[in-house]
Amino acid sequence: MGYWKDGACLISNYRTGKTVPLTPDILRVVQSLDRWALASEVAREVALPVGATRAILRALSAATLASARSRPAAEPPDPWGEWDPAAGFFHFSTRGTRFNADVSEGERRLARKAQTTPPPAPTAVRTASVRIPLPRPQSPSPLEQLLQRRRTWRQFSRAPLALDDLADLLRLSVGVQRWARDPANRRVVLKTSPSGGICHPIEAYVIANRVQGLARGLYHYDAAGHVLARLRRGGGRPLINQFIQAQPWYGHAPLVVLFTAVFERTMWRYPVAKAYRNVLIEAGHVCQTFYLLATERGLAPFCTHAIDEDAIDAALGIDAVSEGVVYVAGCGRPPAAGRDQGLPHLDWWTDGQHSD
Ligand SMILES: Cc1cc2nc3c(=O)[nH]c(=O)nc-3n(C[C@H](O)[C@H](O)[C@H](O)COP(=O)(O)O)c2cc1C
Repeated sequence: MGYWKDGACLISNYRTGKTVPLTPDILRVVQSLDRWALASEVAREVALPVGATRAILRALSAATLASARSRPAAEPPDPWGEWDPAAGFFHFSTRGTRFNADVSEGERRLARKAQTTPPPAPTAVRTASVRIPLPRPQSPSPLEQLLQRRRTWRQFSRAPLALDDLADLLRLSVGVQRWARDPANRRVVLKTSPSGGICHPIEAYVIANRVQGLARGLYHYDAAGHVLARLRRGGGRPLINQFIQAQPWYGHAPLVVLFTAVFERTMWRYPVAKAYRNVLIEAGHVCQTFYLLATERGLAPFCTHAIDEDAIDAALGIDAVSEGVVYVAGCGRPPAAGRDQGLPHLDWWTDGQHSD
């Protein structure tokens, strides 16, 4: 992928994040690399000295933009071929963003920014000749009451989570409701969330930190069998703090759920880059369901995208190409003192020590 950034024209392998400045000579060499060739053949084709051509090829090879081999080799098919470059560039180059460990400093910086660049209005009003005030119910339905109670929590009681709660959270957010066949006779699963093309790319992994009757560890949730498969023992708080950046309070959470996407499920059905959006949208559906289930049980859910994708994928043994983490949620029990009364839903930048 070639683009301008900070005044420099760059060419980048977005899979590896490696980049070289794009000069006219490098561009000519890159254009010639549509087949296996000797450095001398490339030099002849682009009319550059062999030494200079070799240097460019070495630089491209070091940046994983070209392969240097003594003889041609067949490249394995690229599973992202149909989604590249648009979806691949976005997926791979937006992983691994580092977050400022000093959250209060981030808040102060935003407060300074707001003085010169006011934040956009959080809601919109459109000018219209007809405006119709809508009715509100006399008494809120149980679902409305549940929705009104949903909040993000960052403090948790020391009490462990019940295994039944964990089981229901997983079963009803990512578990299989039933099997079916689509018009192409493909076996599909139905779940509580909708899924574009019935692909259901989202998988769930669990860090059990304090769950009654469940050894501390990292587990995969088998959505069809409703079974936890242990991938490794232990982990707990250090693992959570490694996976969720700069937010040590989540290390106290009894349960963290890592939502990954198996991209090929969606790619198979939709070989078009736009379908990458489906995957992210569907993670949002699943996470909202997780929140509501937790809220209904009087638990304290949270979600975060401040995650170290590389660390999580490495721990799960997945490669970000066929499967990669996309979202993280979790929950515990509310602290005895309840939410911070002064800042009911903006307590996330306070220390967030778990209480009780
Ligand atoms: C995509 C996404 C990423 C989020 N990342 C974080 C996060 O890194 N840390 C955090 O404490 N909350 C995170 N949140 C939660 C929001 O901060 C929270 O929804 C917001 O403060 C509004 O509060 P409420 O959920 O109680 O309505 C995230 C929410 C979403 C949807």
